[in-house]
Amino acid sequence: MAPITGTTGAPHARILGVGAYRPARIVPNSEVVDAIDSSDEWIQQRSGIRTRRWAGPEESVQMMSVEASRIAIERAGLDVGQIDCIVVATVSHLLQTPAVATAIAHELGTDGAAAFDISAACSGFCHGIALASDIVRAGSARHVLVVGVERLTDILDLTDRGTAFIFADGAGAAVVGPSDTPGIGPVVWGSDGEKFDLIRQREDWRDVVGSDTQPGSGVMPHLTMQGNPVFRWASFAMAKIGQQALDAAGVSLDELDVFVPHQANMRIIDAMARSMKLPESVRIARDVADQGNTSAASVPLALDRMMAEGEARSGDTALLIAFGAGLSYAAQVVTVP
Ligand code: UT7
Repeated sequence: MAPITGTTGAPHARILGVGAYRPARIVPNSEVVDAIDSSDEWIQQRSGIRTRRWAGPEESVQMMSVEASRIAIERAGLDVGQIDCIVVATVSHLLQTPAVATAIAHELGTDGAAAFDISAACSGFCHGIALASDIVRAGSARHVLVVGVERLTDILDLTDRGTAFIFADGAGAAVVGPSDTPGIGPVVWGSDGEKFDLIRQREDWRDVVGSDTQPGSGVMPHLTMQGNPVFRWASFAMAKIGQQALDAAGVSLDELDVFVPHQANMRIIDAMARSMKLPESVRIARDVADQGNTSAASVPLALDRMMAEGEARSGDTALLIAFGAGLSYAAQVVTVP
């Protein structure tokens, strides 16, 4: 057996910079309600959403990702050539292969960075941060760019009462790099595949295309969601996961400054904060009210906004938690860059 040289990485990892891209078009509830026989009042009361942003034709998954990434790299104080790995979390890059990450790496002008996509729906960004932390600490790359991006309007049925008002588009990015002290706590993650069907692409692409013996539907397989069971699962089970992430990082509730949960629904955010007994002093992300639910982009978009508005300051301790289709979830404590 030949001896193999092992890898050695940085002692610790941290987030060095965060960036965001929000599509230009703001869509109020009044533009959504007619097609789903709903009302502004119902949507606000059930979800807390007042407006969302929907991408225009030029605002592709790649374009939004590149814009958010350029900002994150600049704020990290790096040149793009220093990014040696890119992880893109998305479920709405509609070309099955290749990964959009390679196109993003090329357009950004990286020096042939390793680049791949991950599919973990709304929890994808927190999965990406966990991977990036491990990659940096293992020595497989020095600076990892993590992107959470969605153009969910491409897969939305705008006449579906369960999804049309909630989902939206956007991109967020973070650069993870080496650190002398821990800046990203242990990830607490998992899945509950028994609930596989609660949020899903309605049908397999083969059912759309058909076969020699079976005609296909020829209809875009839209995103479907059984909202209420997901709502109950997220409101109760996810608070425990948040607490586990705090425990794993050795951070007490009193030491927590910022809470950035997946921006799924304002009522879920409030229920989690109550169940976790977050002190009044903890500042809570509430980006969903005017951004909608942007799936993999929601946590970095919400964090970016809190940083821009001074609600999250450099050195603050933040709990990130995201959950969604699979069902899958991931949470970790991070230091705000
Ligand atoms: O991001 C990935 C993870 N996703 C989530 O975490 C989303 C979780 N789910 C939710 O956010 C919520 O379930 C929704 C906001 C989607 C829905 O809120 P809900 O409180 O769970 O409503 P519901 O589905 O239980 O429906 C309540 C009522 C029903 O009428 P009845 O049976 O009480 O008469 C529905 O038919 O509201 C009715 N309804 C609507 N009414 C107006 C359902 N959809 C609509 C609608 N407009 N769009």
